[in-house]
Formats: sequence, C-alpha cells, structure tokens
Amino acid sequence: MGHAGAELIVAPSLLAADFAKLGAEAAAVERAGADWLHLDVMDGHFVPNITFGPLVVKALRPHTKLPLDTHLMIAPADPYIAAFAEAGADHISVHPEAGPHLHRTLQLIRSFGKKAGIVLNPATPVDSVAHVLDLADLIMVMTVNPGFGGQAFIASQLAKIAALRRMIDASGRDIRLQVDGGITPATAAQVLAAGADCLIAGTAIFGKPDYAAAIAEIRAAAPGRRPDFAVSAG
Ligand code: DX5
Ligand code: ZN
Repeated sequence: MGHAGAELIVAPSLLAADFAKLGAEAAAVERAGADWLHLDVMDGHFVPNITFGPLVVKALRPHTKLPLDTHLMIAPADPYIAAFAEAGADHISVHPEAGPHLHRTLQLIRSFGKKAGIVLNPATPVDSVAHVLDLADLIMVMTVNPGFGGQAFIASQLAKIAALRRMIDASGRDIRLQVDGGITPATAAQVLAAGADCLIAGTAIFGKPDYAAAIAEIRAAAPGRRPDFAVSAG
C-alpha cells in the first residue's frame, strides 16, 4: 500500500450512521463492500462536538472484521491511546495540534502494534509531517474542518494532497494518503487525481438508501476504473 496506483480503499465514516444501531450499521457497510470502517472520536474540546470513546469501539469490534480506522479528535490524545488499542482499534490517527510531542504519540501508537496516522486540518501545513514520516502508516488530509459530517468540501486542500503524494513517493515509504470530509463521487475524482488512495465518506454512504451502490459509485470515480464509461458513447 501507500503508492500512487495502490488499490483504492473506501472507508465509510460511522459518524453518519444511525447511532441507535451502530453494530448493525457496521455490518451493513462491510456487506456492502467497504474496506475499512472509519470511527470519529470527538471530545467537545479539540472539536466542537462529542461522539464516543473506547467503550463503543470495543462494543463494535465483534460486529465487523473490517479494520477499525480510528480518528481521534481529542486533546490530549496520549492518555487514551492504550484504551483505544485495547478496545480493538487497528489504526489510530491523531492531529499534530492535539499534543506537543507528535513523534512520541506515533511511537506510542506503534508500541501497541497498531498503524499510526497523522491528520492535517485545513490550515495545517504539509511540513508538519515531514520529519516523522518514518513513524507514519497513514496521513489524512481533512477537506472540512473536523467536528461534523455533511459539510462542504474545501477545494484548497487539493494542492496539499498533491504535495503529500510527492512527499510520500519521494520517501519510498509505505504510507496511505487518506482524505476525510465532503467526499462524494465528484470530489472523489478530484482527490484521487491529486494522489489520494483512501477515501473516507460519511454522508455519501450512510445518507443513501443503498450502501453498496453508494460505495460502488465512489469507487467508480477512480481514474482508470471506468472502462465502460469510455466505450459506451457509441
Ligand atoms: C469530520 C469527520 C469525518 C466525517 C465526514 O470531523 O472526521 O470523518 O464523518 O463526514 P462527511 O463524509 O459527511 O463529510
Ligand atoms: Zn474522520
């Protein structure tokens, strides 16, 4: 994984699911063809919304075999890394602004045998990951301000995605480039063209009646994955 042309990963964000039946929703997107399940953890302090913590991750774990891609929007994050790891999170991603020692936080995540991720807010520069690439398995570009689903895609982030793709490729490292926020089939095509290889989508999947069709529509946005499109004109 982690290079341009790597197989596209689609990760539905459970934030847009029915919170009264999270286990069933997780199983439903697994059946519908999801690759990973994205879990948005919010503390009402780092971001202006509150969701759930490690107890809910632990409760979800038996309902799906999908890797749990856990996005921590909490500050501080370090005191809770062990709890999320023990709850069954497979990937744990943090924002550099959530604590003063990103390098140490990534080391801590890896010490539990988990994949470590760095999440960049719209104003956070690409340089914030440059000196910790050796500790990153995932880099995620926020194309909305974190805190809520259903917001509009911030197109200024396309240049950041392209810059990170160049940085990752130049490093030769095995790092996934994720995009989170405002992903639809139309914006998916833009971020994939810019070099992303993992798409997080909440509203565009859980907001649709047919999850399998919604996931397929997002996958179809990938360049080179639409042979029918090119030959169907005649
Ligand atoms: C926002 C979260 C996203 C959110 C995306 O803070 O990190 O994962 O679920 O929702 P949509 O796809 O609706 O923009
Ligand atoms: Zn997220």
